[in-house]
Amino acid sequence: MSFDRSLKIAPSILSADFADFGREIEAVEAQGADWIHVDVMDGHFVPNLTFGPPLVKAIRRHVTTVMDVHLMIAPVDPYIDAFADAGADILTAHVEAGPHIHRTLQAIRGAGMKAGVALNPGTPAVAVEHVLDLCDLVCVMTVNPGFGGQSFIDMTAKVRRLRELIGDRPVHVEIDGGVTPVTAPSLRAAGADVLVAGSAVFKGGSVTDPAPYGANIRAIRVSCDTEV
Ligand code: DX5
Ligand code: ZN
Repeated sequence: MSFDRSLKIAPSILSADFADFGREIEAVEAQGADWIHVDVMDGHFVPNLTFGPPLVKAIRRHVTTVMDVHLMIAPVDPYIDAFADAGADILTAHVEAGPHIHRTLQAIRGAGMKAGVALNPGTPAVAVEHVLDLCDLVCVMTVNPGFGGQSFIDMTAKVRRLRELIGDRPVHVEIDGGVTPVTAPSLRAAGADVLVAGSAVFKGGSVTDPAPYGANIRAIRVSCDTEV
């Protein structure tokens, strides 16, 4: 994985057919996805449950791009090795998930993955200021984590502040939640380079009719090419 700030669209499989993840991933990659975003929820850090390392490992062989695993779990540290074994390329932990994010990010890199740190809407950018040398990605949540299809919360000012704090470091800025062709442009303009989108990508399509996935991805991309 080389670093650049080009726009990357990362469909969240939270909005895919849970009985058919393999073919959904292949379909969305064929339709132009840059990364695959995988949402892990524990029913404790967030009020919803999804899946754990065995499922992530099972879908790994269907991902030919980048498997971007977003942990909405607490604690994180006991599960880091399991997600490394499952084949995560990027493993993101929430700064709110425990008192030792510094140690967690070191452990993620130590296990051979890229390390990400996520910020809930109520958490300021400065919460990650002192770990920016330990991470490869900062995920700015634009919904309260837990569910797909929620309304967007504008975090443009936070993205701008983060980019100031990041400076020249090779750290991606990812947006997660409520991303659509309407909400994406100002975030891209503020300095985000990875846009996670669940419902906005998967709506209207299926593995047997995947063309809408491509149209939806292109619509987000094109919206970011226009002036805001
Ligand atoms: C929310 C998840 C998101 C979610 C985004 O807790 O982290 O990745 O799937 O879904 P949309 O794009 O539908 O808001
Ligand atoms: Zn996510």
